[in-house]
Amino acid sequence: MKDLLRTDHLTREDVELLLDTAARFADAPLAERSFLANDTVVIHMTKPSTRTRLASETAVAHLGGTPIFVRADELQLGRGETIADTARIISGYAKALIIRTFAQSDVEDLAANATIPVINALTDDEHPTQALADWLTIRENFGNDFSNRKFTYVGDGNNMAQTWLEMGAVLGAHVVVATPAGKWAPDTAVVARTEELARTTGGTIEVTHDVKSACRDASVIYTDVWMSMGDSEADRAEKIAALGEFSVTDALMNLAASDGIFMHCLPAHRGEEVSADVIDGPRSVVWREAYHRRTTIQAALFHLIRGDIKGRLA
Ligand code: CP
Ligand code: NVA
Repeated sequence: MKDLLRTDHLTREDVELLLDTAARFADAPLAERSFLANDTVVIHMTKPSTRTRLASETAVAHLGGTPIFVRADELQLGRGETIADTARIISGYAKALIIRTFAQSDVEDLAANATIPVINALTDDEHPTQALADWLTIRENFGNDFSNRKFTYVGDGNNMAQTWLEMGAVLGAHVVVATPAGKWAPDTAVVARTEELARTTGGTIEVTHDVKSACRDASVIYTDVWMSMGDSEADRAEKIAALGEFSVTDALMNLAASDGIFMHCLPAHRGEEVSADVIDGPRSVVWREAYHRRTTIQAALFHLIRGDIKGRLA
């Protein structure tokens, strides 16, 4: 597999390889410090980023390469040059392209026209590199056996909810997503696709509107912002009202398994999707999770550029 475009393109073996290497890069960040010597990686983002941008630039530096960061208003792409032409040009200079934007189809178009690996650094649909950091953090807490555990996401049925379903299905885990009904529920096509995949991996997909039952005995309670980048401000009041009962407070955390942890991809809005007590409390692993954004992006660059990732669709 050349690119990392969607979480459910990976196999469990691919994920294990990436997480093993990321764990190595956590202990020894410079273990492959000549891998990208004299080479560049282009990072292009049309949405803001703290973690993904800085983790990507640091990962490239640790591999011995030079990151080139370009904003939307710095490329001719914003002035009508085509995605295909842009992909061809970047392929002539760099070893990989990391891209964050709105439409998943734009990332897929870029990848189809690029001869170098393209890594999706978040779209409206997907956040695969976040999923790698999340599950490395989960593995550090609970080991590699995900059976007999419940992994729950609560909140908006957004790109992170969909990514949670996909990685759960890939890994054969029991994942639960609790969202309000209707507009803020995950895309039904993604639910169907992940249910089908879970049937082949031994996982279970549960989509519910009952937040308390979703959190009961969960090993992980995960949440994300209620207003994502690109969401319409016109929806804010209605959305926040609908999501109120999905706020992760001590009352929800108390329903979790006794060793249950709290996770969040960040940025967080204390007092909205999570209370300060929870995110800053003893069960929160969010700082380790954020740390692993660098280790896992470094692993993704390393293995994609080497051509080690098999992919589920191969
Ligand atoms: N979690 C995450 O992707 O954070 P940034 O938006 O800061 O990159
Ligand atoms: N759902 C959020 C995730 C941020 C990392 C967004 O897309 O803005």
